[in-house]
This record gives sequence, structure tokens and C-alpha cells, in this order.
Amino acid sequence: MKKEFASIVYQIWPRSFKDTNQDGIGDLGGVIEKLDYLKTLNIDYIWLSPIYVSGNYDYGYDIDDYYDIQPEYGTMEQFDTLISEAKKRDIGIIMDMVANHTSTSHEWFLKALESPDSPYRDYYFFRKGKNGKEPNNWISLFGGSGWTKISDDEYVMTMWAPQQADLNWENPNVRQGITEIMKFWLRRGVAGFRFDVINIISKKEGLPDKNPHKKGYQFADDYINSLPKAFDYLQEVVDEVRKEFDFFSVGEGMLLTQDAALRYSRINDPLLDMMFHFELALIDCGPLGKYDFRKLYRWTIKDFKSIVRKWQTDMQDRDYWMANYLSNHDQPRHVSHYGDDKKYRVESAKAWAMFNFTLRGTPFMYQGEEIGMTDCKLEINEWKDIEAITDYKVLQTMMKLPAFIAKKVIQKKTRDNARTPVQWSGATYAGFSSVSPWIKLNPNFTEINVESQANDPDSILNFYRKLTSFVKDHPVLTFGRWTEILSDHPHIIAYIREDEHEKLRIIINLSDKPVTFSLEEPEGTDILTTGKEGAPYNSKMVFAPYEGRISEIKRNES
Ligand code: GLC
Ligand code: CA
Repeated sequence: MKKEFASIVYQIWPRSFKDTNQDGIGDLGGVIEKLDYLKTLNIDYIWLSPIYVSGNYDYGYDIDDYYDIQPEYGTMEQFDTLISEAKKRDIGIIMDMVANHTSTSHEWFLKALESPDSPYRDYYFFRKGKNGKEPNNWISLFGGSGWTKISDDEYVMTMWAPQQADLNWENPNVRQGITEIMKFWLRRGVAGFRFDVINIISKKEGLPDKNPHKKGYQFADDYINSLPKAFDYLQEVVDEVRKEFDFFSVGEGMLLTQDAALRYSRINDPLLDMMFHFELALIDCGPLGKYDFRKLYRWTIKDFKSIVRKWQTDMQDRDYWMANYLSNHDQPRHVSHYGDDKKYRVESAKAWAMFNFTLRGTPFMYQGEEIGMTDCKLEINEWKDIEAITDYKVLQTMMKLPAFIAKKVIQKKTRDNARTPVQWSGATYAGFSSVSPWIKLNPNFTEINVESQANDPDSILNFYRKLTSFVKDHPVLTFGRWTEILSDHPHIIAYIREDEHEKLRIIINLSDKPVTFSLEEPEGTDILTTGKEGAPYNSKMVFAPYEGRISEIKRNES
């Protein structure tokens, strides 16, 4: 097993992390300033969401120049400082590698526009319209058409925002270009990459019309999701880079299936070290996608458990490595999404953390979750997220939702929920900045902030510190076998983690009710709990709302 597997990764979405030059926008200076704080969370890597030059239509994921730093985030010099300061603390920096598309202001795209014979045209998918319409009926993953008109009868493929043009990976120059970008950053000292939507880099040959009945996300599987060539292209690029560098890699697997996952992240011969799957994130979305509201609020802990079971149980016998997460910059805050962001905010934040960090695999966490930050209700004029703004319209036109319901759906799901500034203190602007931030600050910062939790032994923050240090001390949590117990229980998730050295039992009540259960083998001594010490184990147990306990069943000293 690679040593990288036993790591904890902290994701930073820089725009909202910490502002140090007082323009209301988070920056590299802020990341440097907080390195000591981050180290208290026992992290090994920071995954930085994109910091390259960008027009910010999709906040950094529309890249104009992969070889420079977005001026509002800082300079290359500061970036080098970040790398070396992080290294001093044994923290590696993981860059976000957005390789499915560039922005339409990127040099390649601008050169492609210069003339019809430009060699750069084949870097993208430029196509003539068909009968006055788009070249095919594919749809954008942000809603609307998957094509953007660039002249009277010509379109370019844009599977995300109109300012994000899909790269044509068939073209060896594109693959070469991506290889060079990766080498450039590795030479600067980065530890690896998170590959943005890497499973959709190959598009169905001939770009045929999709089946019109396959709406929303449903269409992805047959036309863009993990097509055979996606593996070949990626293999070529990583093989080339690995000739010179060793690096950490995690791929974003939009709508990743288990079969595809097994081809990406084989332990013994990984294409990428690990992948993010979307099944938990989309648990309350219909088949049409994130904004398919028909299942909204309707998911159960049983549904949740069956997804976890499927990935944990099946995959451990199949040479597969997992990346585990509950939150990121694209999803609502998990305390609001899966937990209880009101009465049991503290308890549920701890319970869900205990769950995420005790699964087999590498745990990822997202800025602010360590203090239990919650979704923020934003009014329409406060929305920044292009996905939310586009889908608000799509919900009303295509899905025929009345505006006030469409608004509610967006408020629940918008990525802006995860993008409000990190709440450092109860001072003006939450200690994020001394001026009004670029996006609304969650008004609950006076109550929920790092400063107030730092010295409170029972805070969420201090629980994260204990939990992450516990994970580091118990490799069984990373690598050991995962065996579920109490699998039929509707509110409890419980499992045994075991290796040759020890056997731990994790029991977590994921509900806001007290629950009872009986244990077949009621031994065990608690070593980490979400709350006060619980009652001793016996055959009839009662757990408080969101109570979680890790106990030791066996230890072989050797
Ligand atoms: C990924 C990113 C998301 C971005 C999209 C397009 O899903 O995580 O933030 O909008 O790709 O690059
Ligand atoms: Ca700033």
C-alpha cells in the first residue's frame, strides 16, 4: 500500500478561506497564515481548489492561464512560500487539475478563434449547427444546452458554463499540453493533483444525438461518462508524468460507477490513487441530477447505509482504494444536508465526522466543517454560483416549477452554501476580512467560529483534533477490514474495523432520537466518544441522539 493512503486531506476553497490584503477575497496569504492552525487537525495534504488565472465564471474552474496565479489570490512568489512553509509542517499541496476544459479566454481557445485553419481548433469541439440548431442535443451539466454559439452557424462544446470549452483529448497535443502543466507544478514542489471531472474527458465518437428520453444526468452514462478511451488517455498522461515524478492523485468521478471506479483506482496498479464517488452526495436527488427535487428531503439512514455498505464491503475485496468525504465546495454543508443544523448541530457534526473518519479509505474534509459550519439562506440577489443561477431558470422552464419553489430548491442545494467565508471569530466580518466579503457571510458567525471553539474542550473543533489524531494512531481505521454490524437498524450505523493488531467497534446513532439496540457481543471499552462517557456495553443498549462511540474489542501487543 502506498503511504499516501494513510493521510488526511483538507480542502481549501481559497476565495472564502482567509483574506489578508483586505479586499474581501480570500488569498494565498490567508492559507499561509493558517498553516499552523491546519496542522492542529493532523492533516497531511491541502487540496487547493483552483488558484490559476480565471475569469471567475465558475470561480477558478474556468482557467485562462494554467501557468500563473490569479492576481486576487497572490503571486507565484507567495505560492512558492506556501509550498515551502507547508513542507516545513509536513503538509503537501495538491493542485486542482482542471483538464476536461479550459476557459474560452485561454490562449489555445483564442488562437483557435483566429482562423478557420488554426491547428488549435482541433483542441476543442467546434462544429457547424444542424438545421439552425445545435450540432446535437447534449445538455450542459449546469443546465441548458451543451453547446455555445460562436458565430452564425458555428458552435463549440461547453458541457459546463458557456465560458468553459471542452478539450478534445483525441488530440495528442492536448494530452501533451496537460502533461506539461502537471510537470510545471510538480517541479515547483506540489505533492499531487485532484483531477476535476476526469471521467468525462472522452466523448462518444461522432457526437451523436442522445436519446431524447435520457434527461439530465441520465444522459451522461452513454455519451460522456468513463468511456473506454477516457482510461487510455489518462493512462498516457500519468505514465508520462510518473517517469519523472511520484505524486498523489485523486479523481473526481462524477456519477462514478463501481465498475469504472475499479478501473481507476486499483491498489496495485493505480491509474489514480483514489476517486470520489457521488452516491452519498446525490442521495436526495432524482435521476435527473442535483436539482431534480422530487426526492428532496426524502432519504433515510437505511438508504445511506446501503450506499456505504456497497462501497465499503464489496470494494475491499476487489483491490480498490476509497476516498471518503461528506462535504466539498460543490455540495451543501453536511451538517445541514445529513445532520441537524439546529438543535443537535454540535452532536450531529461530531457524529458525522466520526463516521467519515472511521471508514476504510482516505478521509477528506472541507474548510469550515471542523467547526460545524451550516448552510446559509441566500436571497436571489445574493447568489454567486453559476450552476444555481442557470438551474433556477431551468427548473422553471423545463421542469415547470413555480418560481417560489424553484427558489427553495436552489437555496437547499446551491454550491454557495459551502462557499460562504470561513468563520474565524465573532469579530466584524468573522475575522475573515476587515471589509465586507465578496459573498454573504453566514450571520451565525457570532455563535459558530474557530475562536470560540479553540479552547472549549467539548467543541466540534477539538473533537476533530482528537478524532484526526486518533485516526493517525490507529492504522486499522485506514486499512483494516470493514464489517458492518446492526445492518438492519434504521438509525444506527455500526461496524467493526480489524487488522492483525487490533479490533475496534464503531457505533453511531445518525438520528435525532434516542435509539435502542442489542449487541450480540457486548464487550468493548470506549476509547473515543462524541459526548460524555456512555453506559457500559451490555446486550441492551440506549444511545442518545447523534451519540457515537469507538471502542476497543481486542488488541494484540507485538
Ligand atoms: C467539478 C468542480 C466544480 C466545477 C466543475 C466544472 O465538478 O468540482 O466546482 O464547477 O467541475 O469544472
Ligand atoms: Ca484578499
